[in-house]
Amino acid sequence: MANVVVITGGGSGMGLEAAKCMPKEKIIVLSGRTVAKLEKAVNALTELGFTAYAHACDTSNRESVRELAEYAASLGTVKNVINAAGLSPNMADGEKILRVNALGTVYVNEEFAKVMGPGSVICDISSNSAYSLPGFLTNMAKKSYPLAESDEAAYLKKQLKLANMAKTDYQKSGFAYALSKNFVCWYARKCAFAYGKKGIRVVSLSPGLIATDMGKLEEKEGGFLIPFTAEERMGRPEELGFAIATVADERNGYLAGVDVLCDGGSTNGKEFKKGK
Ligand SMILES: NC(=O)c1ccc[n+]([C@@H]2O[C@H](COP(=O)([O-])OP(=O)(O)OC[C@H]3O[C@@H](n4cnc5c(N)ncnc54)[C@H](OP(=O)(O)O)[C@@H]3O)[C@@H](O)[C@H]2O)c1
Repeated sequence: MANVVVITGGGSGMGLEAAKCMPKEKIIVLSGRTVAKLEKAVNALTELGFTAYAHACDTSNRESVRELAEYAASLGTVKNVINAAGLSPNMADGEKILRVNALGTVYVNEEFAKVMGPGSVICDISSNSAYSLPGFLTNMAKKSYPLAESDEAAYLKKQLKLANMAKTDYQKSGFAYALSKNFVCWYARKCAFAYGKKGIRVVSLSPGLIATDMGKLEEKEGGFLIPFTAEERMGRPEELGFAIATVADERNGYLAGVDVLCDGGSTNGKEFKKGK
């Protein structure tokens, strides 16, 4: 039976770049909401010699995710899931961002864990924004993280109350984004311990500002981070694609229950580049 890689948000950006770093004997399933984008990406992978399929899925809809998981399992053994689907502050309001980035991660991890077995990996894509929140806010937010699995409405209400403490609409979306990505790190850690006995490794990876469509859209507001990176530049999509593919590779078997911060150093740069 062939091994299958599933990449949500795989029609563009880092997800698509990660696909290009996969072993060619694996079947690749690219997923997202826009079929035309997925088909273009599948054609590009096919030209490179990959076996790839497009399958539409909105990760903020559990049924849609369940259907994607069942489709992937019908193609072979689901070995690697990269959950790169996401919305950024300039793309949507706080509720939509939390539904896709946070609740979408719950649906992806839960539904795929049902069809995955020993020696498989889930890599949830977070963000260095997860590290940007004041400590008191993270501590308050964390108290309601478990609600994402048991009472979605209550989870959303509590997270949006925190996000809406910000002044402007953009800042509110920005707070919701940071909260959603802080949740992704927490939830991936939680799942690592929940699924470890089944042999499913779970890990998150947090990119910094990367020159994808999303990164370019956020560059005006997020560009202040560039001087804090070690090389004072944005990341390239292909650099992150390689990092994600490596973290999600089953041979990287002891990397679990942790977030891999791949941000060019911008989070630590605040300590070492104080003059900027
Ligand atoms: N670029 C950065 O600077 C940066 C920094 C930190 C973290 N990240 C994270 O990295 C991940 C990949 O982003 P990227 O930079 O590669 O941007 P991207 O090219 O915009 O990729 C995001 C993908 O997610 C898909 N998507 C959005 N909502 C979805 C939904 N509800 N269901 C399924 N797919 C959905 C989009 O396709 P459709 O619109 O067709 O669905 C798109 O292909 C995201 O989670 C993002 O938050 C990015």
